[in-house]
Amino acid sequence: MKAVRIYEKGAIDNIKIEDIPKPTITPNQVLVKVKACGINPVDWKSTIHGYFEMPYTVGTDIAGIIEAVGTDVHDYKVGDAVIGSLEWAKQGAFAEYVATETKYIALKPKNLNFQEAAAVPLAALTAWQGLFDKLSLKKGHKILIQAAAGGVGLFAVQYAKWTGAFVVGVASPKNEAFLKSVEVDAIIDYKTADFSKITADFDAVFDSMASSELTIPLLKKGGNYVSITAKPSEELAQKHGVTATNFLFHSDAEQLKTIAYLIEQGHVKVFIDKQFPLSEAKDALAYQHQGHSKGKNILIVD
Ligand SMILES: NC(=O)c1ccc[n+]([C@@H]2O[C@H](COP(=O)([O-])OP(=O)(O)OC[C@H]3O[C@@H](n4cnc5c(N)ncnc54)[C@H](OP(=O)(O)O)[C@@H]3O)[C@@H](O)[C@H]2O)c1
Repeated sequence: MKAVRIYEKGAIDNIKIEDIPKPTITPNQVLVKVKACGINPVDWKSTIHGYFEMPYTVGTDIAGIIEAVGTDVHDYKVGDAVIGSLEWAKQGAFAEYVATETKYIALKPKNLNFQEAAAVPLAALTAWQGLFDKLSLKKGHKILIQAAAGGVGLFAVQYAKWTGAFVVGVASPKNEAFLKSVEVDAIIDYKTADFSKITADFDAVFDSMASSELTIPLLKKGGNYVSITAKPSEELAQKHGVTATNFLFHSDAEQLKTIAYLIEQGHVKVFIDKQFPLSEAKDALAYQHQGHSKGKNILIVD
């Protein structure tokens, strides 16, 4: 089968599309024929910085159809359409087949095609864990969401609106009309805004841009800040009387099922920027690397 492999860190260019054996499954795994993969910044970052043990197959997010089921698997059957973010340490998504434990997958939302569905797992789970597990976001809260039109930001925006929060998105002017269409209440233009002049009345900040120096001061006392990149300064948090933390997402089937339900109910939509065939994985990672996607980018495998 075809797979996007890397043997040496240093550059996106180091990835190779190779023929490798189709995986076999253990009793607690399923074999998924991959139809599409979601691309996340970690996919290019890890080719450059080498986060994972080499060699490995790049990528975490899949959507596909179960082709075989291990003897200990009872909650899925051959033919089920699924999505998932694979075991973090092993990666392995950008391939024609993957073997995975069921604790990393959920049934595909019925109203999404495979490309749309592949966009969901990592970004949607990160936004979920940030807003609800870390920020304890509630109805009536005022939240600032960094990079609101990005892969993670768009899920965060939609969950926050579904919760009944007042949402302020940080974005460039080109995304203003689009963000209004997903009901963002107000927009801060990151290219021109003077953050020091913004009233400090936020209950929560969801930060994907390592902007804690700018955004922690916008919280009111008792507010909560979470970063999905750099660790915020504890001293700054104490000075403003807020909590501040950062975290790495984890793949969680139960949360993914809840997210799939919200998608099927129409509370959350998926936005795709660009789609690339597997053979153009380098171009796909290079595009993601530019850091200006509107929503998610996809690799079409089948
Ligand atoms: N901790 C975790 O578990 C976790 C999980 C997922 C992602 N992450 C990290 O979170 C970051 C964002 O991920 P993502 O998937 O959302 O990335 P993404 O889709 O590539 O983000 C693109 C968005 O960022 C916006 N942007 C670029 N520069 C900006 C700036 N200076 N200020 C505000 N917005 C800016 C872009 O807006 P314009 O087009 O208008 O410039 C675009 O809307 C990445 O560093 C990623 O590695 C961490």
